[in-house]
This record gives sequence, C-alpha cells and structure tokens, in this order.
Amino acid sequence: MRVLGIETSCDETGVAIYDTGRGLVAHALHSQVAMHEAYGGVVPELASRDHVRRVVPLIERVLAESGLSLADVDGIACTEGPGLAGALLVGASVASALGMALDRPVIGVHHLEGHLLSPLLAEPRPAFPFVALLVSGGHTQLFDVEGVGRYRLLGDTLDDAAGEAFDKTAKLLGLGYPGGPALAALAGSGRDGALALPRPMLESGDLDFSFSGLKTAVLTASRKEPLTDARRADIACEFQHAVVDVLVAKALAAVARSGRERLVVAGGVGANRELRARLSAQVEARGGEVFYPPLAFCTDNGAMIALVGALRLAAAKVGSTSRGASTAPGELAPAAVVPEVGAFGVRPRWDLASLPVPG
Ligand code: KG4
Ligand code: ZN
Repeated sequence: MRVLGIETSCDETGVAIYDTGRGLVAHALHSQVAMHEAYGGVVPELASRDHVRRVVPLIERVLAESGLSLADVDGIACTEGPGLAGALLVGASVASALGMALDRPVIGVHHLEGHLLSPLLAEPRPAFPFVALLVSGGHTQLFDVEGVGRYRLLGDTLDDAAGEAFDKTAKLLGLGYPGGPALAALAGSGRDGALALPRPMLESGDLDFSFSGLKTAVLTASRKEPLTDARRADIACEFQHAVVDVLVAKALAAVARSGRERLVVAGGVGANRELRARLSAQVEARGGEVFYPPLAFCTDNGAMIALVGALRLAAAKVGSTSRGASTAPGELAPAAVVPEVGAFGVRPRWDLASLPVPG
C-alpha cells in the first residue's frame, strides 16, 4: 500500500509518500515560521493562503524525488484534524480532488495519531504495546498504546501544553517565535541552580500536568533582577530543568503503572536534547527502552500522515477482503474515516480517544 500524505493543520505544509513494504519513500516540507514570525504567532488566514501556494509544488517535488507518478499511488491521506479549519481544508480539498481524479481512496488522518506513531518512521521500530508521551505545541499527554487505534489516555495537561510553555517563556525572555528551540539553545549557556522555579504537579500522585504556574514564576523571576543575557540564560536553564523534571517523572510513573517496557516520545518538544538524554538514561536504567521519531519528524510533517494513512488503508483493505474475521489484539484497526469519493470534511477539534478501536 503506497500512500501520498498531506499535512496542512497549522503552519507547515508537509507532503510524503509512505509504502507499507518499503517504508518512507520521499518527503518534503515547507515551514511558514519566517512568515508568521513578524506577528509573534500563527495568523490562520495567512497560513491557509500559504498552504494553497505550497501544496501542489510539494506534491510534484515528492513525486519527482521518488521517481513515481500519481498513477503509482494507491491512496491519499490528509490531516483531517485537529487544527486550523481553513488550513485543514486546503489539504482535505486537494486530497479529495486527487482521490476523485485518480479513483483512489482518501483517508482523513488524526494529526495526533500521526505524532503518536511517528517513531515507527525510525529504525528500530517500537513494537506494541507501549506508553507514549505526546509533547507538542498544543498537547501534553500520556497514552497507553496497545496497537493502531487502541489509545487509552493516562494523563493530560490541565492548562498549557509543554511546547506552549516553552513558547510563552521564550517570548517573555525576548526570544523569537516559535521559542522552544531558541530557549533550549539558550538554556545550554545558563548556570544550574542560579534560581529555583517550581516543578508543578510533581507530587500530585496522578499522571496529569500543569505548566501555566511555571510561566507565571518565570515572569516573577524575570522582574526580580535586571534581565541581562546571563540572567536570561539562567532562567532558560532552570525552566528547561523544571519542565524536563516533570515530564520525566510522569513518563516513568506511567511506564511503571501500566507495566509496559517501552516508552515512545513524540511531538515537537520530543526534539529537546535534555528531555531525550534524561528520559533515555532513566528508562534504560530500569531495563526499559525509549523510542523517538527521527528529529525531522518530531515537529509537523507529511511523513507521519502518509504513514498512518498507509497503515489504516492497508488494514481496511485486509478487513474488506476477510469480512467477518475479527481483529486480534495488536492487529491494525480499520480506517478511521474513508469518506465517499468527492465528499470531505475537516475536524478542527477532534478527540484522539474517539478514534475507532478494532474488534
Ligand atoms: O508537534 P509540533 O510541531 O506542534 C503541534 O502539533 O503542536 O510542536 C511544536 C512545539 C512548539 O511549541 C516548539 O516550541 C516546540 O514544539 N519545540 C521544542 C523544541 N523544538 C520544538 N521545545 C523544546 N525544545 C526543543 N528543542
Ligand atoms: Zn503537530
């Protein structure tokens, strides 16, 4: 099953081809970061218009790089949600038009399922079941993952997501947008222990998170002393330690409680070096394994959408040819949404736990 995947949920246009036999065939990405930078955040209407400009040239590039033509594609996947409505509609309409013109199935993919399964784009691939720590700009969640489509939410953020906290703190410190990578870079030159920030919910006894208080503590710290470059670096360093302390502690607790041996980390904050180093050391010390997506696929991309589309379309095909056979645990789920050719919609808000479970 060879699937063309299109991601347009926010400020990155991503296109890729994934083949269930060969793996990732080709991928291309255009980031709108430079365009939105002047506004300090994503401007939805500008995002949609830029997706319109970029998506077809990116599809042509991916086809040229892979030496394939549209006729060689067995299905089309696009991000159906969650995300910005106008931005999602660009990918969904292009996918729908391609499906109609080529007479191929079109599948709407859940963006977070893309992030969650993105470690399957790296070798070695994690085997199911595993615990997943999803740390993106909009989400900080822990899931118990038994297989494709079998996601049980273990913990969630009560307010800001980890990436959002990185971005807001970076803004407070006068760093650009998106601030996560810039803040992480600055943290490297800060001194350990120069100030103390709270570790929110560390002792809460559950697997939930809260990061908005940390942002307020950073604001207070930034007003306490003149905000020199050295002070900024100290705050960045302590902020990163605080976020990583909480993420590591909760991820370890989730692994212990669920009895799983594997932890998968996905989403933009999964690119953070301190988080990766500390998680790997602690999980491996307990005899477990940690899996990450390739760095390029931590943030939004088309590869993860093509991957999920290919897995689900392949499962739907198997399901339709062996009608009546029930799906064994660990097997692939049937496709979430295979709309009629020509009909499409988007889901700007969409709960991952509501995806269909096989069986
Ligand atoms: O997964 P993603 O592309 O977006 C969503 O789907 O939400 O993640 C983007 C987030 C941003 O908040 C960005 O600041 C953060 O990931 N991020 C990082 C790093 N790289 C990206 N945060 C901390 N350290 C990094 N190295
Ligand atoms: Zn994302």
